[in-house]
Amino acid sequence: MTRRASWRIRWTLLVAVWVLSFIPTIRSQQGTTQGAPPAGQIPTVIQVPKTIQVPPTGIQVPTERGLVRTAGRGVRPPRLLADMTMPIPTDNPMTDAKAALGRKLFFDKRLSADGSVACATCHEPARAFADNRTLAVGVHGRVGKRHSPALINRGFGRLHFWDGRADTLEAQVLLPISDPNEMDLPIDEALKRLGDDKSYRSAFETVFARPLSADDLARALATYVRSIRSGESPYDRFVAGDTSALTEEQQRGREVFNRSACGMCHREPLFTDERYWNTGVAWNPETGYADTGRYEVSKIERDRGSFKTPTLREVARTAPYMHDGSLATLADVVEFYDKGGRQNRNTLFLRPLKLASEDKQALVKFLESLSGVVTAR
Ligand code: HEC
Ligand code: HEC
Repeated sequence: MTRRASWRIRWTLLVAVWVLSFIPTIRSQQGTTQGAPPAGQIPTVIQVPKTIQVPPTGIQVPTERGLVRTAGRGVRPPRLLADMTMPIPTDNPMTDAKAALGRKLFFDKRLSADGSVACATCHEPARAFADNRTLAVGVHGRVGKRHSPALINRGFGRLHFWDGRADTLEAQVLLPISDPNEMDLPIDEALKRLGDDKSYRSAFETVFARPLSADDLARALATYVRSIRSGESPYDRFVAGDTSALTEEQQRGREVFNRSACGMCHREPLFTDERYWNTGVAWNPETGYADTGRYEVSKIERDRGSFKTPTLREVARTAPYMHDGSLATLADVVEFYDKGGRQNRNTLFLRPLKLASEDKQALVKFLESLSGVVTAR
């Protein structure tokens, strides 16, 4: 054998060993995505029934993650196509009858201890389901510690509340009922009141075909909240190609919005990234954080004073602003960002913007263009 031939064999062997070394990796990938998982491991793909339900609200398609996606009635921000269809839990499909029951509950003051407060008291439809009081006011005039947020497009949201402490809408909607500062009614008592009412009894029976329960109360309320959508704003028409939908000033405002990195957190198309940031609203240099926000849930030091980015859709209807309702107008909010927020050790990505006064005004006008149509069942 010549020296050259022996090198060729050595190289061929080396390449062969290298190629063979990939086979176990390919196998194990197939194992987790398609075949049965290795013993002791939980399968990552949850099986969903193959049937496709077509309730009156739209087409529901099973997906891999135990959720069904629905293309429901009502407005949606455009460009919410494949990636932005609303995930609906498989055990709580949307139906018109269920949303109608949820609606009735949402407006019913009997879900509060003294019959004075309904969900809609703090989440007013005309204000994109927000509230014009600085802080929420519950039964007996009790003042809570945070401002009532708008409830639009929450079905697209990931975690709920300013600090994200509720994982699902079903988990969220019962909490205001029993919260002493909000409706202050133990859930058992709420169920008793509903059970004593003939029309509720028959509505629950029709929708769920089983005895009244806390879980089904949550399902009905969550379904109604999911039906609340906002879209079709002048801004949406503009990005869809109608160049006359925004005034020149609003178009300049849009440039200021993009140039000032507002869209990094208030990300399109929902104008929220559903993440937590510290803009310093809760920060006081003398006394520290008035509200620790996300830290209460995560216990991560960096989250101290962080809050969920609120959507900017319909924002012109939802004054006052921020988790504590401390800023009265959109002009105040723009002023706040112009100074770089209230800097503290957990503030990220904010810096003084030093905008010209016309730019500030244009930015406010742009924010106003995000108000469109709010639909709810
Ligand atoms: C007393 C006023 C008040 C009442 C009554 C009330 N809420 Fe709220 N709601 C709030 C406040 C304040 C928050 C934010 C609280 C927080 O983040 O700690 C909130 C948050 C929410 C959120 C989360 C929104 C988001 O962006 O994460 C949902 C959903 C919601 N409420 C639904 C309801 C439903 C359903 C009812 C009736 C069962 C109800 N609320 C009753 C004041 C109220
Ligand atoms: C680093 C992320 C981030 C950036 C950048 C950012 N925001 Fe915010 N924005 C938030 C968070 C978080 C809140 C809620 C803060 C709180 O309540 O403590 C908020 C609140 C708001 C609100 C109040 C909404 C309401 O319903 O209360 C408006 C309006 C707003 N931002 C507009 C803007 C504009 C305009 C810009 C660009 C100049 C901007 N934001 C840049 C994260 C951000």
